[in-house]
Amino acid sequence: MKILVTGGLGFIGSHTAVELQQAGYEVVILDDCSNSSEKVLDGITAITGQRPIFEKIDLKQKPDVIDFFKRHADLSGVIHFAASKAVGESVENPLLYYENNINTLVYILKQLAQKEKAGFIFSSSCTVYGQAEKMPITEDAPVKAAESPYGNTKQIGEEIISDTCKVTPHMNAISLRYFNPIGAHQSAEIGELPIGIPQNLVPFITQTGIGLREQLSVFGDDYPTEDGTCIRDYIHVVDLAKAHVVALERLIEGKNKKNYEVYNIGTGTGSSVLEVIESFERVSGKKLNYKIVGRRPGDVIQAYADTTKANKILGWKAQSSLDEAMRLAWLWEQKIRA
Ligand SMILES: NC(=O)c1ccc[n+]([C@@H]2O[C@H](COP(=O)([O-])OP(=O)(O)OC[C@H]3O[C@@H](n4cnc5c(N)ncnc54)[C@H](O)[C@@H]3O)[C@@H](O)[C@H]2O)c1
Repeated sequence: MKILVTGGLGFIGSHTAVELQQAGYEVVILDDCSNSSEKVLDGITAITGQRPIFEKIDLKQKPDVIDFFKRHADLSGVIHFAASKAVGESVENPLLYYENNINTLVYILKQLAQKEKAGFIFSSSCTVYGQAEKMPITEDAPVKAAESPYGNTKQIGEEIISDTCKVTPHMNAISLRYFNPIGAHQSAEIGELPIGIPQNLVPFITQTGIGLREQLSVFGDDYPTEDGTCIRDYIHVVDLAKAHVVALERLIEGKNKKNYEVYNIGTGTGSSVLEVIESFERVSGKKLNYKIVGRRPGDVIQAYADTTKANKILGWKAQSSLDEAMRLAWLWEQKIRA
């Protein structure tokens, strides 16, 4: 079966392409390389022994999307990762984010709606919950007003899919609300490749550990948490990639109860910023240069997932510990800087 992975050269998409190939699917990657490189194809091929089909297409170009779906009428499913994801940039340039994250989604759904049978997996985010009142967060927790245009594109994206599924009974879709993806493939052939200053904690830690950044700033140690730093649910990217395969299989095998479903994808455990630093120090044997600075606007105090729904219904559970994910993130950092 042939599966389209948009944004398949990116961090999560490349790991998912590997898991799909290893589960026996034929993978077609579509990416414009705006936040990735074609070299990632070599990494995927080194792991699986199969080179995915690749087409360099900007999904903002509607005629190219239409043409792609014409040429690949035999797709069994689409996993849609392609999006811009820098929160700060989205505040400065909202239209870029609405165009790249919303228009592209609409173009793809329009093509899928014309197919007889179509499975669609969407990359959503725990940011839709904002600061949830209860921990761990279940899928029933209210969606809060988004803090940034990026976060808003995930909320609007979910609504677009939900509305489309209501009137398109043959369309089957799942939104996966990721918590905080980290780590790299155990082969160290693929991993996270942030361009410029990393937006996320773990690549900032590993880049500081390797000497690329001088110091990590920890934003606030006066939050109402045990050690005063913010708490997140850090999930290993390979576990996250596997969740996409089981979600897609649910749709392909027609096991879904509704034609639009939503699942949290996390570990179910919250870790503070200081705990993540300690984990890095444990697995790398290095002391990290960090300092505590003031709080950063927009950061929620804590967010970790209740994963019962994914555990029970998808039969999926995260396997890797924080230390294992940090060890692999560090291995990857060392490899790309060697
Ligand atoms: N990494 C996270 O922390 C996180 C958390 C929650 C949700 N997400 C979502 O998961 C998805 C994947 O995230 P990631 O971390 O792998 O990001 P990434 O930037 O590594 O991957 C996204 C890929 O999409 C491509 N792309 C972007 N715009 C495109 C376009 N118009 N046409 C074709 N390709 C395009 C980029 O070149 C890149 O390869 C995104 O939708 C992101 O919003 C990520």
